[in-house]
Amino acid sequence: MKKSIIQNCLMATLLSTATLLTGCSSNSSQDQTEEKINNLISQMTLQEKIGQMNQIVGGGDIDQLKEEVKKGHIGSILNEIDVKTINELQRIAVEENHLGIPLIIARDVIHGFKTVFPIPLAQAATWNADVVKAGARVAAEEATAVGVRWTFAPMLDISRDARWGRIIESLGEDPYLASKLGVAMVDGFQGESLSQPNSMAACAKHFCGYGASEGGRDYNSTQISEEQLRNFYLTPFKAVEEAGCATFMSAFNDLNGIPCTANQHLLKDILRKEWGFDGVVVSDWGSVHEMINHGLAANGAEAAEQAVNAGVDIDMMGFDYIKNLEASVKEGKVKESTIDEAVRYILRLKFRLGLFDNPYVKEGGEKTFYAPEYLQAAKEAAVKSCVLLKNSNNALPLSESVKSVAVIGPMADAPHDQLGAWTMDGDKEHTITPLRALREQYGDKIKINYVQALEFSRDRNTSNFAAAVNAARSSDVVLFFAGEESSLTGEAKCLADITLPGAQKELLAAVSKAGKPIVLIILAGRPVEIHKELPMADAFLYAWHPGTMGGPAIVDLLFGKETPSGKLSVSYPLTVGQLPYYYNHKNTGRPAHEKVQLMDDLQQNEVQTSLGMTCYYLDAGKDPLYPFGYGLSYTTFSYGDIQLSTDNIKEGQNIKASVIVKNTGTRKGMETVQLYIRDMFASLTRPVKELKGFQQFTLEPNETKTVEFTISTEELKFFNAANEFVAEPGEFSVFIGGNSRDVKESKFTLN
Ligand code: GLC
Repeated sequence: MKKSIIQNCLMATLLSTATLLTGCSSNSSQDQTEEKINNLISQMTLQEKIGQMNQIVGGGDIDQLKEEVKKGHIGSILNEIDVKTINELQRIAVEENHLGIPLIIARDVIHGFKTVFPIPLAQAATWNADVVKAGARVAAEEATAVGVRWTFAPMLDISRDARWGRIIESLGEDPYLASKLGVAMVDGFQGESLSQPNSMAACAKHFCGYGASEGGRDYNSTQISEEQLRNFYLTPFKAVEEAGCATFMSAFNDLNGIPCTANQHLLKDILRKEWGFDGVVVSDWGSVHEMINHGLAANGAEAAEQAVNAGVDIDMMGFDYIKNLEASVKEGKVKESTIDEAVRYILRLKFRLGLFDNPYVKEGGEKTFYAPEYLQAAKEAAVKSCVLLKNSNNALPLSESVKSVAVIGPMADAPHDQLGAWTMDGDKEHTITPLRALREQYGDKIKINYVQALEFSRDRNTSNFAAAVNAARSSDVVLFFAGEESSLTGEAKCLADITLPGAQKELLAAVSKAGKPIVLIILAGRPVEIHKELPMADAFLYAWHPGTMGGPAIVDLLFGKETPSGKLSVSYPLTVGQLPYYYNHKNTGRPAHEKVQLMDDLQQNEVQTSLGMTCYYLDAGKDPLYPFGYGLSYTTFSYGDIQLSTDNIKEGQNIKASVIVKNTGTRKGMETVQLYIRDMFASLTRPVKELKGFQQFTLEPNETKTVEFTISTEELKFFNAANEFVAEPGEFSVFIGGNSRDVKESKFTLN
C-alpha cells in the first residue's frame, strides 16, 4: 500500500522536527553514508561488486576461503563462529583488499545462541513481547561476543499445519500475534542501534508464504490468493519492515507458480515499491540454484539472472552469482545498474552495522555465555510458554502430601532434545532437565523413582515397561514425560502421523494400569495428536522444547511455585486429518452447527441423511482439541459482559470495549485477555474471528480488573479485491475472552 500523502508529510515533519531537536541531522549522516557508498561503488570492478553478493559458509578449506576473501569474491560468511578466524578473515578483507570492505558474519541464532530459549512457537505461547524481546537480546549479546552480526530470524511464516516440521520456528497461526512478537524479536536482536557491537541485523524469513507448503510437506508448492497473502501471510513481514528489520530472506517455495527467489511481485512490487524497504534481501540456502529444480531456469546462469532481476541481493551458498553474473551483465541479460543497486543495499547494511568503523570482535567476550541473568531470562520464558491444557481432579499443582513420584518416559532427562531444533551452539551440558531439577530441588524431600523406559522418542523397545509400571505402583503420582526428539522437528522434518512416536503410547497405557494419578508432560516441537491418550492422564502440561532452563521451569510449575499462564499460539488439532486448521477461518456457506453429529453416533441408515450437511468431518467433528489462545491456570477467571462506549462509529473514530475480569479461584494467576473482531458482511468473505488485541496481567484471588480495549477503524481494515486497505461500513462483532472459543460477544456498526 503506497504511503498516503498524509503519512509522507507526517514523516517529513517528524524527521525535520527530530533534526531541529537533536541539533544533528540524521539526514546528513545518511547522506554521508550514501556518499561513501557511491564512492566505493565507483572504485569496484564488476567482479568485486558481484563478490559482495556472494555468501559462503565458513569452515572447510580455510586457506581457500582466505584467498577468496582477499580477492573480494565473498561479501558475507555464515556459520563461522571462531573469534580468531573471524578476525583474521576480517583483517584480510579490510587490510589486504584495496576496497577495505568488511565481511558480515551470519548465523541462525533462532532461539538463543549459547543460552537456549524455548522454541519460537513456545515463545509465542507466552503472548508476552517483553519476554520475546529479552530472549532475542540475550541471543544477540552472546552471538555478537563471537562476531556474529547477522541472524536469520525471526521466522514469520504463518503456520497452520503441525505436519510441517518448521511450525516450531514460527510464531504461530495468527498474523496479529506474529506481528507483535516478530517486532519484539527484531527489537531484541537489533538493540538500540544496529551500529552497536552487541547488535545483530535481524532477517525476516521466509518471504513469503512458506508455511502454506502443500500437505505440510517442507519445500512444497504454495498456492496463495492475493487476498490470503495480503490479509494473512504478509502481515507480520510488513510489521517488522515498518519496525526497521534490516534484512529479508526469500523463501524456498514457489508461490503461485513463481518461486519466491525469482518472484518480482513479492520482492519488487510489494517489498521495495509498496513498502519502501531499503535493506538487504538474501536468498535461502541454494534457493537461487534451485530455480533449476523448480523448472524455471535451465542452468545456473538463468537462475542467477532471474533471482537478481527479481531483487535478491545476496546468493546464499548457491555460487551462481559469482560464477555467472559477470557474463550475464556483459551479455546484457542483467543491467550493471541492477548489480549496483544490490551492492548499495549490501554496503548500506555494513555501514549501518558500523563494520567499516569497527570490523573486529573483541576477543575474550565469550565469558558472558550462560550468565545467571541469561539463564533466569530463559527460565522465565520457559515458565511463561508452558501451556496447561488439562487439570482434572486438581492433579496439579502437586500437593504437599506427595511423598513419592514416578518419573517415566524418554523426555524426562533428554538434555539435547529439550533444546529443540535450530540449536546450533547451545551446549547440552548446560541443560537442566526436569529430572535433574526434580532431584536438585526435591531429592531430599520426595522419593523419585525414575524409569526412562524408552531411550528416545522413537524407541520401540518395550523391555523396560514392567519396571516403569512397578515404579508407578510404588509412587503417589506419575510424571510421564513424553514427546519428540528435536531431530523430528524443524527443517525437512515433516510427519504424516503426529501422534507420539515410538512406543510411548503403549508405555502410557501400560503405566496407566497401575491406577495412579498421571501428569502428562509433553516436550515436543509441534502439537502432537494426543486425544486417544488424554483420558489416561489427569493433567496435561504442554512444555514444547523449552530450552536450557526447561527443567526448573517445568518443576516450578508442577509444584506450584509458578502458575501456568501460557496460551496456545496454534490451534491444537484433535487429529492430523483436520490439518491445516486455524481459528481465523472463513464461515463458508454451510458453517457447521454448534453441535455436529459424528458418524459413530448415527445408526446405519442415518448417516446418509445426517442433519447438518455442513462443513465438518463425520469422524472428527469441526473443532480442534484445544482452540487457539487456550491455556488453563491454577486459578480460574470469570468475564463480565462486554460494555461498548458506543454501538456505532464512523471512519476515523474509536470504540472502547471493556469487560470486568475476576480471579474466581484461590491462587494468584496471570490471564491473557484476548480481543477478537468479526466483519459480518463485506466485499470479500472475512474470518469468523480475527485477533486484534490482548492484555496480560496478574490477579490475586477475588481481585477484579476492568480491561479496556480501544478499537479504531484501522483495526477493521482489510485488503479488498482491489488490494485497497479499507474498512467497509456495516456490522461488526467484538469478542473478548481468555481464548478464541470461550468469549463474550457484542456488536457495533461502522457507518
Ligand atoms: C536453511 C533455512 C533457513 C536458514 C538458512 C541458513 O535452509 O531454510 O531458514 O536461515 O538455510 O542456515
